[in-house]
Amino acid sequence: MTSVLFDRIGLLYTGDPAREEIADAALVISEGHVVWVGEAGAAPEADERVDVDGRCVLPGFVDSHAHLVFAGDRTAEFAARMSGEPYTAGGIHTTVAATRAASDETLAARTEALVAEMLAQGTTTVEIKSGYGLTVQDERRALAIAGRFTGETTYLGAHVVPRGASADDYVRLVTGPMLDACAPYARWVDVFCERGAFDADQAREILAAGVEAGLAPRVHANQLGHGPGVRIACEFAAASADHCTHLTDDDVDALASSGTVATLLPGAEFSTRSPYPEARRLLDAGVTVAIATDCNPGSSYTSSMPFCVALAVREMRMTPLEAVRAATRGGARALRRTDVGVLKRGTRADLVMLDAPSYVHLAYRPGVPLVSGVWQEGRRVV
Ligand code: NIG
Ligand code: FE
Repeated sequence: MTSVLFDRIGLLYTGDPAREEIADAALVISEGHVVWVGEAGAAPEADERVDVDGRCVLPGFVDSHAHLVFAGDRTAEFAARMSGEPYTAGGIHTTVAATRAASDETLAARTEALVAEMLAQGTTTVEIKSGYGLTVQDERRALAIAGRFTGETTYLGAHVVPRGASADDYVRLVTGPMLDACAPYARWVDVFCERGAFDADQAREILAAGVEAGLAPRVHANQLGHGPGVRIACEFAAASADHCTHLTDDDVDALASSGTVATLLPGAEFSTRSPYPEARRLLDAGVTVAIATDCNPGSSYTSSMPFCVALAVREMRMTPLEAVRAATRGGARALRRTDVGVLKRGTRADLVMLDAPSYVHLAYRPGVPLVSGVWQEGRRVV
């Protein structure tokens, strides 16, 4: 069993509440796991040594919300938005048509490329949703492809009602034959609960059917306006309510008392030129906050967690520490994972090394490719 000592770490962000940051630190990994964390001088011997030379090390980012299985792009829609058109989510149908028309090989290769793009930017755990197929075959295919890259697969048959279908018939399909076909490939069930997508009753029916089939719930909630999504997520004790852009006091109270994580997706507000979620309001109320990319061709075509951290700091008034915590441990909480997002004895050796002395540089030097090394389960991958 080979052990590796990461020596002379300038600043180690562990994410462990017991000791969240250690200056002049060291860390030892073995067999894909962290076995020791502490001060550089006190480190035990190891078979190999990596000289971190004063740089910052942190857990691999946990991107808990991404839609990576799709074909086509929506460049024209983005450009139109930047000249004043609003985002309506209607463009989902464009991606559905392109995705249905693509071969399995094309979809898998494109997903693989996005996962590699994420890895190069420090993401070592990613959740991947279906939702651009909207037929039994196409949703199952998306999840089978997603499952090649992650265990965190989410059934989002309830993304929108496909063109030409009746909403009632489609909800019956999503909660019946489509669920039966998809459940073996999915860990989570999700629903886009929003005006123009699925209403409160439909969302409850879809989540309940998913739970009945053994999936755990999460919800696209309150993205485009106020609505029942956040409260339904809390009612179902969902792991996460995602977006949370439009919140009432009752929504914030429900999140604080249910323990449901609020996953904020600032790439979506950036790309749709919308007001950002009120992270401070959530943090001050004691809500656990995660940050994720929402990587998708319509509302947020970024694969970069460092970019989202920078947005969270600059645009959502999170401190750099809060933003990094949300991008690591927060994402892990949103996926109910305790083995990732934190570096302490026993967790997975998923590490990011920055070419910078502190994680603060992620926001202080936005757009600069600071990720200079990535280890996944102890293996160097970047
Ligand atoms: O999370 N809100 C719904 N789904 C995606 C956007 C999908 C799209 O525009 O293609 C989101 O933002
Ligand atoms: Fe999304």
